Amino acid sequence: MSASDDWRRRASAVVAADASTGSKRPMALYGPTSDEGAPVHYVRASGCRVTTVDGRTLVDLTSALGSVALGYAEPEVTQRVHEAAAAGHVAGLTHASEVTLAERLVDLIPCADRVLFLKTGAEAVAAAVRLARAYTGRDVVVGSGYFGWLDWWSTGPGVTAGASADFVGVPFDDVPALEAAVDAASGRLAAIVLEPVVERLPSATWLRAARRLCDRSGAVLVFDEVKTGCRLHVGGFQATGDAGDVVPDLATFGKALANGYPLAAVVGRRDVMAAARRAWISSTLASEATALAAAHAVLDRHAREDVCARLRLHGEALCDTVREAMAECAVREVTLMGLPQMWFLRFGGDADVSTRREARFLDATRAAGVLFKRGAYNYPTLAHDATIDDAVARAAHVGFAAVRQLDDSEGR
Ligand SMILES: Cc1ncc(COP(=O)(O)O)c(C=O)c1O
Repeated sequence: MSASDDWRRRASAVVAADASTGSKRPMALYGPTSDEGAPVHYVRASGCRVTTVDGRTLVDLTSALGSVALGYAEPEVTQRVHEAAAAGHVAGLTHASEVTLAERLVDLIPCADRVLFLKTGAEAVAAAVRLARAYTGRDVVVGSGYFGWLDWWSTGPGVTAGASADFVGVPFDDVPALEAAVDAASGRLAAIVLEPVVERLPSATWLRAARRLCDRSGAVLVFDEVKTGCRLHVGGFQATGDAGDVVPDLATFGKALANGYPLAAVVGRRDVMAAARRAWISSTLASEATALAAAHAVLDRHAREDVCARLRLHGEALCDTVREAMAECAVREVTLMGLPQMWFLRFGGDADVSTRREARFLDATRAAGVLFKRGAYNYPTLAHDATIDDAVARAAHVGFAAVRQLDDSEGR
């Protein structure tokens, strides 16, 4: 048995559902048909590489689900975290770096007058929704996107119908659906919560419609910038210019804000954020100082150089490399989608065929030394520079050739 398989077996004996992060479960990483020896556990991550429990080092395009934008174990971030830990990262008082980090976010994020720190993206969005409900005194939330695992918007085993009864989901970039959901809420609308980028940029019309509907009804417009913050722009999607003239009332940040250290934030307009004095939102370790220190190091890097412009360039180069391999292998019905900063491959065919083709690609590219993300997204970091072009080109060739072989053998 390989070391990977052994760790998989040990994990499934003691870790509920095999892994605590849903997207890191074997099935989520590789799909139902993936081979057994596929690595699920790692021992070291540095730059854009991950070393598995088998001792293999792979180029990793997944970047910890987008929570890392500077690179794994980025030295300056690591150093600042060490210093914060050594100085005492928690106490009965709040560390002063909470204030200094909030001051920086207020300067950088268009909608931010006030900041509240939490640990996870899901907590941040749930807190934004609670603030919106407390501010408006209303209950219905209309939303589009993925907002984490908490009950207020979820369905499925363990979630009571009542918990998410006041959430109405609408499709991305669909103005009539948004208008209809807001109409149906009539006087009960507390907030519209939008993930601004889902596989592509939204239309300005959709964003403006959301702004107008909130203004007209007195509801709160929330952008969930957990993926887009510090990746498309340090100030989030709202600062890119692609948001047109739309500024949300609240926004949530997480992931790349602290380069993978656990930190999330709700930011927003002074009067809406003031509801935090009445609504109870509190977590013991919300402002522990290692994650705050990591975020300070991240913002220092953004201040010294245009990190997001480099992420875009690195992403474009990776996408070009993958597209070239796709063309050279003459593979059919595979599409590279998304933005350069967050891109993915879609494998055509019905659900079964698409799953098999993707799994074949993932198995072949991993064997060739590169870890691609199943589904969305592959995320470039500062460490994904030109030095990995050859490795990615080689692996992509092997991967697309394997998909073609599968297609040929199945008569497609
Ligand atoms: C847009 C968005 N919001 C919220 C979340 C939840 O964040 P977390 O997994 O840190 O709780 C995610 C996670 O992927 C996300 O992409």
